[in-house]
Amino acid sequence: MKTDLIVIGGGPGGYLAAERAAQGGMSVKLFEEASLGGVCLNEGCIPSKALLHSAKVYDYALFGEAYGVKSQGVTFDMGAVVKRKDKVVRTLVAGVRSALKSNGVEVILKRASIVGKTQDGFAVEADGERYVADRLLIASGSKPAIPPITGLREGMDRGFVLTNREVLNLSEPPANFVVIGGGVIGLEMASYYRSAGSAVTVIEMLENIAGQTESEIASLLLKEYQKKGVVFKLGAKVVEVVDGGLIIEIAGERERIEADVVLLSAGRKPVIDGLGLETLDVKTERGAIVTDTHMRTNIKNVYAVGDCNGKSMLAHTAYREAEVAVNHMLNNPDCMRYSAVPAVIYTNPEVACVGETEESALEKGIQVKVVKLSMRYSGRYVAENADGNGIFKLIVHEKENRVLGVHMIGSYASEIIPTASLMIESRAPVKDLQKLVFPHPTVSEILREALFAVN
Ligand code: NAI
Repeated sequence: MKTDLIVIGGGPGGYLAAERAAQGGMSVKLFEEASLGGVCLNEGCIPSKALLHSAKVYDYALFGEAYGVKSQGVTFDMGAVVKRKDKVVRTLVAGVRSALKSNGVEVILKRASIVGKTQDGFAVEADGERYVADRLLIASGSKPAIPPITGLREGMDRGFVLTNREVLNLSEPPANFVVIGGGVIGLEMASYYRSAGSAVTVIEMLENIAGQTESEIASLLLKEYQKKGVVFKLGAKVVEVVDGGLIIEIAGERERIEADVVLLSAGRKPVIDGLGLETLDVKTERGAIVTDTHMRTNIKNVYAVGDCNGKSMLAHTAYREAEVAVNHMLNNPDCMRYSAVPAVIYTNPEVACVGETEESALEKGIQVKVVKLSMRYSGRYVAENADGNGIFKLIVHEKENRVLGVHMIGSYASEIIPTASLMIESRAPVKDLQKLVFPHPTVSEILREALFAVN
């Protein structure tokens, strides 16, 4: 039977699109070949946060003396930590399943491929069965990028080199944990395994960590990691994966790095192969599906949201893109903007950023005012962080006096950043934002302090 919409992929982009479309009155079938919730829920955002929280609880217990709490005999039971993580994932996957069901979405747990367009509509096949719909929404996600390093694939085959999926399930901290790529995944896992007791080395080919993160914040994060004992090899090239280690090249010299476990976190790439995109001539560029601001592809009534369009590989971007796509299908005015999409690194301390940095604004020819404050301007931050040295940066449009960017490193950063996104999206002048009342004492008050420091 023909449906209004077929969704391919049950991650955040796919499942939310299916829910919203069904709520809007459409009949929807959703295909998922693995587990509902996609990478985010099963092997990304959620399980990593569960692990990192256990690491944080352990760190608090170990280093509680600064707060007058002495503890003895504290241990990190990684088996129990992983078990708890699995329970969190199971709970949330069940939540997605029941939300889809209660909205009337038909979930088909099979791999689907597009087979073309007929006069009945778009045709999709799964397990030899054919399904037809008026519209398609592709939310096929992403997979780890595998750089051409000698011995890397063999290392992956023998379980020595892991990806974001397997690295979540170790039952013991490896003695030597080595990370290829000092981006978000690499840093979060480096933090987890360091807290758990591993010796950790991060190999990054650039001169700083954390990719697009504002450079001063990234440098401070690097120092915080070094304080915890994580070793960084910056500007380093991995030449070869060998038995029990890696060969890297740094400053023209070759060096062997011993490893018991290696994590490959050198970026991700959209999943586009095997979807049958060629049967419709869906346009792709540099390995990603090309979309416009309504998440339309070049083919009428075919949409692509989330990592598969390669625009901003974040679950929260996928959510919003899903809503934009469905709004277009339902003729509700809407369009996608990426200028206030926040990015968070959930380490301890947390990093959160949104909008322009001083450098990116200047590159666009926008003159900005920059306010930089110590996080210690917040009373609650001082009360809770014995030796915290976090910083906060506010980027303001010089002429229009409105917020363009916020970048911070310190506790609760991830929970504060949406307020900053709202400030950017609202385009409200600083003098109006100054009238907002913040609860006291909160770390979020740093935002208020910064607004009053704009001259
Ligand atoms: P990434 O793009 O964040 O970082 C990859 C890093 O690897 C870069 O710094 C790059 O310079 C380095 N690199 C690449 N090839 C290398 C090589 N051969 N040797 C040494 N270094 C090399 O990618 P990552 O960490 O794999 O994350 C993938 C995606 O998942 C990102 O798009 C990220 O936004 C998303 N993600 C988001 C999280 C969050 O929001 N907290 C958490 C985890 C992932």
